[in-house]
Amino acid sequence: MVFANPDKEWETYGKTDPYFGVLTEDKFSQKNLTEKNRDDFFRTGRDHCENVIRQIRENIHPAFAPQKILDYGCGVGRLLIPFAKNADSAFGVDISPSMLAETAKNAKSMGLDNIHLHLPADLPSLPSDFDFVHSCIVFQHIPRKKGETLFQLILTRLRPGGIAAIHIPYQTHTRKAKIYFDIMSRIPFAQNLWNLLKKRPWHYPLMQMNNYSPIRLIEIASSLHCPCRHIQIIQPAKTDTHKACFLYFQRIP
Ligand SMILES: C[S@@+](CC[C@H](N)C(=O)[O-])C[C@H]1O[C@@H](n2cnc3c(N)ncnc32)[C@H](O)[C@@H]1O
Repeated sequence: MVFANPDKEWETYGKTDPYFGVLTEDKFSQKNLTEKNRDDFFRTGRDHCENVIRQIRENIHPAFAPQKILDYGCGVGRLLIPFAKNADSAFGVDISPSMLAETAKNAKSMGLDNIHLHLPADLPSLPSDFDFVHSCIVFQHIPRKKGETLFQLILTRLRPGGIAAIHIPYQTHTRKAKIYFDIMSRIPFAQNLWNLLKKRPWHYPLMQMNNYSPIRLIEIASSLHCPCRHIQIIQPAKTDTHKACFLYFQRIP
Protein backbone atom coordinates (compact mmCIF):
# COMPACT_ATOMS: atom_id res chain seq x y z
CA MET A 1 0.00 0.00 0.00
CA VAL A 2 1.13 3.57 -0.67
CA PHE A 3 -0.39 4.85 2.60
CA ALA A 4 2.83 4.72 4.59
CA ASN A 5 1.86 6.87 7.53
CA PRO A 6 -1.40 8.79 7.16
CA ASP A 7 -0.74 10.80 10.34
CA LYS A 8 2.54 12.09 8.93
CA GLU A 9 0.83 12.86 5.64
CA TRP A 10 -1.69 15.05 7.46
CA GLU A 11 1.18 17.04 8.89
CA THR A 12 2.44 17.54 5.31
CA TYR A 13 -0.96 18.96 4.39
CA GLY A 14 -0.99 21.06 7.54
CA LYS A 15 2.43 22.50 6.72
CA THR A 16 2.08 23.04 2.99
CA ASP A 17 -1.60 23.30 2.00
CA PRO A 18 -3.86 23.26 5.08
CA TYR A 19 -7.04 24.74 3.57
CA PHE A 20 -6.92 22.46 0.53
CA GLY A 21 -6.26 19.56 2.92
CA VAL A 22 -9.58 20.36 4.59
CA LEU A 23 -11.67 21.07 1.48
CA THR A 24 -10.08 19.74 -1.71
CA GLU A 25 -11.19 22.50 -4.05
CA ASP A 26 -8.62 24.35 -6.15
CA LYS A 27 -9.83 27.71 -4.84
CA PHE A 28 -8.67 26.70 -1.34
CA SER A 29 -5.14 25.68 -2.33
CA GLN A 30 -2.38 27.88 -0.91
CA LYS A 31 -1.68 29.57 -4.23
CA ASN A 32 -5.34 30.55 -4.77
CA LEU A 33 -6.23 31.52 -1.21
CA THR A 34 -7.39 35.09 -1.78
CA GLU A 35 -9.29 36.92 0.93
CA LYS A 36 -12.54 36.13 -0.87
CA ASN A 37 -11.75 32.41 -1.12
CA ARG A 38 -10.80 32.38 2.54
CA ASP A 39 -14.12 34.02 3.43
CA ASP A 40 -15.91 31.40 1.31
CA PHE A 41 -14.02 28.68 3.17
CA PHE A 42 -15.16 29.90 6.58
CA ARG A 43 -18.71 30.50 5.28
CA THR A 44 -18.99 26.77 4.49
CA GLY A 45 -18.10 26.15 8.15
CA ARG A 46 -20.73 28.53 9.53
CA ASP A 47 -23.40 26.96 7.28
CA HIS A 48 -22.39 23.47 8.40
CA CYS A 49 -22.56 24.33 12.11
CA GLU A 50 -25.99 25.96 11.74
CA ASN A 51 -27.25 22.87 9.92
CA VAL A 52 -25.96 20.43 12.57
CA ILE A 53 -27.48 22.43 15.43
CA ARG A 54 -30.76 22.67 13.49
CA GLN A 55 -30.78 18.88 12.96
CA ILE A 56 -30.38 18.36 16.70
CA ARG A 57 -33.06 20.90 17.62
CA GLU A 58 -35.55 19.44 15.15
CA ASN A 59 -34.89 15.78 15.96
CA ILE A 60 -33.49 15.38 19.48
CA HIS A 61 -33.40 18.42 21.75
CA PRO A 62 -35.40 21.55 20.80
CA ALA A 63 -33.44 23.90 23.10
CA PHE A 64 -29.96 22.52 22.35
CA ALA A 65 -27.33 25.24 22.92
CA PRO A 66 -24.05 23.49 23.83
CA GLN A 67 -21.61 25.43 26.02
CA LYS A 68 -18.75 22.94 26.18
CA ILE A 69 -17.81 21.48 22.80
CA LEU A 70 -15.25 19.04 21.42
CA ASP A 71 -14.50 19.04 17.68
CA TYR A 72 -12.46 15.98 16.71
CA GLY A 73 -10.16 16.52 13.69
CA CYS A 74 -10.64 20.29 13.79
CA GLY A 75 -8.24 21.12 10.92
CA VAL A 76 -7.77 24.90 10.66
CA GLY A 77 -10.86 25.67 12.79
CA ARG A 78 -13.46 25.90 10.00
CA LEU A 79 -16.11 24.37 12.32
CA LEU A 80 -14.49 24.76 15.73
CA ILE A 81 -14.52 28.56 15.42
CA PRO A 82 -18.26 28.99 14.67
CA PHE A 83 -19.08 26.50 17.45
CA ALA A 84 -16.80 28.41 19.85
CA LYS A 85 -18.55 31.70 19.08
CA ASN A 86 -21.71 30.42 20.80
CA ALA A 87 -20.07 28.44 23.62
CA ASP A 88 -18.21 28.92 26.91
CA SER A 89 -15.36 26.73 25.73
CA ALA A 90 -14.46 24.72 22.64
CA PHE A 91 -11.80 22.05 22.44
CA GLY A 92 -10.21 21.14 19.10
CA VAL A 93 -8.23 17.93 18.61
CA ASP A 94 -6.13 17.19 15.54
CA ILE A 95 -3.31 14.84 14.55
CA SER A 96 -1.41 17.62 12.77
CA PRO A 97 0.43 20.20 14.93
CA SER A 98 0.55 22.55 11.91
CA MET A 99 -3.24 22.37 11.49
CA LEU A 100 -3.59 23.19 15.20
CA ALA A 101 -1.18 26.12 14.83
CA GLU A 102 -3.30 27.48 11.95
CA THR A 103 -6.46 27.11 14.08
CA ALA A 104 -4.77 29.05 16.89
CA LYS A 105 -3.85 31.82 14.43
CA ASN A 106 -7.39 31.96 13.04
CA ALA A 107 -8.98 31.95 16.51
CA LYS A 108 -6.71 34.82 17.61
CA SER A 109 -7.44 36.89 14.51
CA MET A 110 -11.18 36.40 15.16
CA GLY A 111 -10.81 37.53 18.80
CA LEU A 112 -11.62 34.17 20.42
CA ASP A 113 -9.94 33.17 23.67
CA ASN A 114 -12.10 30.18 24.64
CA ILE A 115 -10.44 27.62 22.34
CA HIS A 116 -8.24 24.80 23.66
CA LEU A 117 -6.17 22.76 21.24
CA HIS A 118 -4.86 19.20 21.72
CA LEU A 119 -3.28 16.24 19.99
CA PRO A 120 -5.22 12.92 20.00
CA ALA A 121 -2.87 11.49 22.64
CA ASP A 122 -4.48 13.96 25.11
CA LEU A 123 -8.00 12.57 24.51
CA PRO A 124 -8.15 10.30 27.58
CA SER A 125 -7.25 13.21 29.86
CA LEU A 126 -9.67 15.73 28.35
CA PRO A 127 -12.81 16.60 30.36
CA SER A 128 -15.61 14.02 30.28
CA ASP A 129 -18.46 16.50 30.61
CA PHE A 130 -18.84 17.82 27.07
CA ASP A 131 -22.34 18.93 26.04
CA PHE A 132 -21.48 18.25 22.43
CA VAL A 133 -18.90 16.15 20.61
CA HIS A 134 -18.61 16.61 16.87
CA SER A 135 -16.51 15.33 14.00
CA CYS A 136 -16.87 16.06 10.29
CA ILE A 137 -14.98 14.54 7.31
CA VAL A 138 -12.35 13.05 9.63
CA PHE A 139 -13.16 9.36 10.21
CA GLN A 140 -13.05 8.76 6.47
CA HIS A 141 -9.30 9.45 6.60
CA ILE A 142 -8.63 7.08 9.51
CA PRO A 143 -8.22 3.31 9.00
CA ARG A 144 -11.39 1.60 10.22
CA LYS A 145 -10.01 -0.32 13.18
CA LYS A 146 -8.20 2.68 14.58
CA GLY A 147 -11.23 4.86 13.84
CA GLU A 148 -13.56 2.57 15.81
CA THR A 149 -11.27 2.82 18.83
CA LEU A 150 -11.17 6.62 18.58
CA PHE A 151 -14.94 6.69 18.12
CA GLN A 152 -15.38 4.88 21.47
CA LEU A 153 -12.92 7.19 23.15
CA ILE A 154 -14.61 10.38 22.01
CA LEU A 155 -18.05 9.14 23.11
CA THR A 156 -16.67 8.62 26.62
CA ARG A 157 -16.04 12.40 26.78
CA LEU A 158 -19.82 13.17 26.72
CA ARG A 159 -21.66 14.17 29.88
CA PRO A 160 -24.93 12.33 30.63
CA GLY A 161 -27.49 13.88 28.26
CA GLY A 162 -24.72 15.19 25.99
CA ILE A 163 -25.01 14.75 22.22
CA ALA A 164 -22.52 13.57 19.59
CA ALA A 165 -22.71 14.21 15.83
CA ILE A 166 -20.25 12.15 13.82
CA HIS A 167 -19.80 12.15 10.04
CA ILE A 168 -19.32 8.62 8.70
CA PRO A 169 -18.61 7.48 5.11
CA TYR A 170 -20.25 4.14 4.35
CA GLN A 171 -19.88 3.46 0.62
CA THR A 172 -17.68 4.45 -2.30
CA HIS A 173 -20.04 6.52 -4.40
CA THR A 174 -19.06 5.87 -8.00
CA ARG A 175 -17.27 3.16 -9.96
CA LYS A 176 -14.82 5.81 -11.17
CA ALA A 177 -13.93 6.70 -7.56
CA LYS A 178 -13.50 3.04 -6.66
CA ILE A 179 -11.10 2.50 -9.59
CA TYR A 180 -9.21 5.71 -8.71
CA PHE A 181 -8.65 4.71 -5.06
CA ASP A 182 -7.73 1.13 -6.04
CA ILE A 183 -5.10 2.34 -8.50
CA MET A 184 -3.68 5.03 -6.22
CA SER A 185 -3.42 2.77 -3.19
CA ARG A 186 -2.08 -0.34 -4.94
CA ILE A 187 0.12 0.70 -7.85
CA PRO A 188 3.53 2.08 -6.88
CA PHE A 189 4.16 5.65 -8.13
CA ALA A 190 0.60 6.05 -9.49
CA GLN A 191 0.00 8.85 -6.98
CA ASN A 192 3.31 10.53 -7.90
CA LEU A 193 2.43 10.49 -11.62
CA TRP A 194 -1.03 11.84 -10.82
CA ASN A 195 0.67 14.64 -8.85
CA LEU A 196 2.76 15.56 -11.91
CA LEU A 197 -0.37 15.67 -14.03
CA LYS A 198 -2.05 17.94 -11.45
CA LYS A 199 1.13 20.12 -11.27
CA ARG A 200 1.67 19.21 -7.60
CA PRO A 201 4.97 18.24 -5.93
CA TRP A 202 6.06 14.63 -6.66
CA HIS A 203 5.56 13.53 -3.02
CA TYR A 204 2.20 15.27 -2.48
CA PRO A 205 0.34 12.75 -0.27
CA LEU A 206 -2.70 10.70 -1.19
CA MET A 207 -5.69 11.37 1.01
CA GLN A 208 -6.82 7.93 2.06
CA MET A 209 -10.54 7.17 2.28
CA ASN A 210 -12.14 4.44 4.42
CA ASN A 211 -15.71 3.25 4.73
CA TYR A 212 -17.33 2.27 8.04
CA SER A 213 -20.36 0.22 8.95
CA PRO A 214 -22.89 2.63 10.54
CA ILE A 215 -24.63 -0.38 12.16
CA ARG A 216 -21.43 -1.46 13.84
CA LEU A 217 -20.85 2.08 15.19
CA ILE A 218 -24.45 2.22 16.43
CA GLU A 219 -23.87 -1.08 18.27
CA ILE A 220 -20.62 0.19 19.79
CA ALA A 221 -22.29 3.42 20.91
CA SER A 222 -25.25 1.53 22.43
CA SER A 223 -22.85 -0.54 24.48
CA LEU A 224 -21.46 2.74 25.83
CA HIS A 225 -24.98 3.94 26.81
CA CYS A 226 -25.12 6.34 23.86
CA PRO A 227 -28.03 5.19 21.69
CA CYS A 228 -28.38 6.57 18.18
CA ARG A 229 -31.06 9.27 18.16
CA HIS A 230 -30.98 10.43 14.56
CA ILE A 231 -29.41 9.59 11.18
CA GLN A 232 -28.93 12.21 8.51
CA ILE A 233 -28.06 10.88 5.07
CA ILE A 234 -25.85 13.37 3.25
CA GLN A 235 -26.84 13.95 -0.37
CA PRO A 236 -23.58 13.43 -2.28
CA ALA A 237 -22.38 16.44 -4.25
CA LYS A 238 -21.14 15.86 -7.82
CA THR A 239 -17.53 15.85 -6.64
CA ASP A 240 -18.07 13.53 -3.62
CA THR A 241 -16.36 10.16 -3.96
CA HIS A 242 -18.12 8.54 -0.98
CA LYS A 243 -21.66 8.30 0.39
CA ALA A 244 -21.80 9.46 3.97
CA CYS A 245 -24.16 10.08 6.84
CA PHE A 246 -24.17 11.95 10.12
CA LEU A 247 -24.93 9.74 13.11
CA TYR A 248 -26.32 11.49 16.20
CA PHE A 249 -26.01 9.90 19.64
CA GLN A 250 -27.14 10.95 23.09
CA ARG A 251 -25.59 9.68 26.28
CA ILE A 252 -28.31 8.27 28.52
CA PRO A 253 -28.95 10.92 31.22
C1 LIG B 1 -10.64 16.94 5.78
S1 LIG B 1 -9.97 17.65 7.24
C2 LIG B 1 -11.44 18.21 8.08
C3 LIG B 1 -11.18 19.29 9.11
C4 LIG B 1 -12.43 19.81 9.83
N1 LIG B 1 -13.14 18.74 10.49
C5 LIG B 1 -13.34 20.50 8.87
O1 LIG B 1 -14.32 19.88 8.40
O2 LIG B 1 -13.09 21.67 8.56
C6 LIG B 1 -9.50 16.24 8.20
C7 LIG B 1 -8.76 16.61 9.47
O3 LIG B 1 -8.63 15.44 10.28
C8 LIG B 1 -7.34 15.41 10.84
N2 LIG B 1 -7.02 14.01 11.15
C9 LIG B 1 -6.69 13.01 10.31
N3 LIG B 1 -6.46 11.87 10.98
C10 LIG B 1 -6.68 12.16 12.29
C11 LIG B 1 -6.61 11.40 13.50
N4 LIG B 1 -6.26 10.11 13.49
N5 LIG B 1 -6.88 12.02 14.65
C12 LIG B 1 -7.22 13.34 14.68
N6 LIG B 1 -7.29 14.11 13.58
C13 LIG B 1 -7.02 13.53 12.39
C14 LIG B 1 -6.45 16.01 9.76
O4 LIG B 1 -5.22 16.48 10.27
C15 LIG B 1 -7.34 17.12 9.22
O5 LIG B 1 -7.14 18.32 9.91
